[in-house]
Amino acid sequence: MTVTRPEMLKFHQYSFGDEEINEVVDTLRSGWITLGPKTQKFEDDFRRYIGCSHAVGVYSCTSALTLALAGLGIGPGDEVITTPITFPAAVNEIIHLGGKPVFVDVVPGTLNMDAGKIEEKVTEKTKAILPVHFAGHPCDMDEIQAIAQKHGLVIIEDAAHAIEAEYKGRKIGAIGDATCFSFYATKNITTGEGGMLTTNNEKLADEARALRLHGITRDAWKRYGTEGFKYWEQVSLGYKCNMFDIQAALGIHQLRKVDLFWERRKAICAKYDAAFKNVHEVRSLEVSKDVKSAYHIYVLALEPDRLSISRNDFINEMMKRKVGLAIHFRSLTLQSYYREHFSESVGTVPIAESFSERILTLPLYPTMEDSDVQYVIDMAMDTVEKNRA
Ligand SMILES: Cc1ncc(COP(=O)(O)O)c(C=O)c1O
Repeated sequence: MTVTRPEMLKFHQYSFGDEEINEVVDTLRSGWITLGPKTQKFEDDFRRYIGCSHAVGVYSCTSALTLALAGLGIGPGDEVITTPITFPAAVNEIIHLGGKPVFVDVVPGTLNMDAGKIEEKVTEKTKAILPVHFAGHPCDMDEIQAIAQKHGLVIIEDAAHAIEAEYKGRKIGAIGDATCFSFYATKNITTGEGGMLTTNNEKLADEARALRLHGITRDAWKRYGTEGFKYWEQVSLGYKCNMFDIQAALGIHQLRKVDLFWERRKAICAKYDAAFKNVHEVRSLEVSKDVKSAYHIYVLALEPDRLSISRNDFINEMMKRKVGLAIHFRSLTLQSYYREHFSESVGTVPIAESFSERILTLPLYPTMEDSDVQYVIDMAMDTVEKNRA
């Protein structure tokens, strides 16, 4: 093994410049730090970027999912069809609202939910389909929309990975009834913590604006602003999950760089694809011809029959070689909580469960130098060569 780096190559690193720093300082000096004019500007910019009618800034993608599910009426006993290869956020929110997640298996090429298997899961209790655009690759929205239309279901998209993504020329965020984005520290653009709900449904947007602030109809900025005193009214049972202006200060400038960051990640993915194309021990995910992937993460699936070590040992070997890695994701059906409370779903998604033990995620972020990318490739090749079955 040739470890040439003294320091670990980080799995992820966000990119802020002076623009973000100055905007945060300006916010701190402005006298208004919570939900206010900068959030409104970021929402306007984001709405224009997506090409949708409404964007509602919230504390996180998880909050956006809560508001989308609650705002679209998901409640006790309702079933929501979704994917097991994801972060727990959306499924947790379904359960918090009294609903039941129903998992469909994934397709091996993209690890997105298999749209061809959705319809067999529809029952009279089904209210929604919740696709997750895994790794930034759009799900098969034509088929999902057709099923939703046929059965009168709403579509709530988890686009935490997919800000830049497009499906057949249509921007993700302007297709389903509601779409939820994340600006968490490791996402394509970041506000530290942060999220956005986009929709073309005015009623839902109004509802989400109320729900993000306890269910009251006027936010604090408008209550105490220069427009004169206005009392607020609580119209629904809401949450406290609004975006605030310090987050938005970062978001305004991150959004201006979103395409620049995307270009660099795309180029890095092309280098990884080229390097691993003919390596039979590993397999990259596919990108369909009719989509624009957001290239959020680079997932590599190991071929267990061709290697003498497990995925976890492969990660340990890479870490010894100073490469930081992650796993996105183990099937939720394998997590202790779901095994205990949704044991009936264990074993129903064999492709997801098998990939759970085979996948790992390589570093991918715009500030990676070409030499960093080559280092990751060299170390992966070295690990494969030393551990062939
Ligand atoms: C697919 C997916 N959905 C939702 C979330 C939750 O995002 P947030 O941390 O902004 O709530 C994440 C976060 O990692 C995610 O990966």
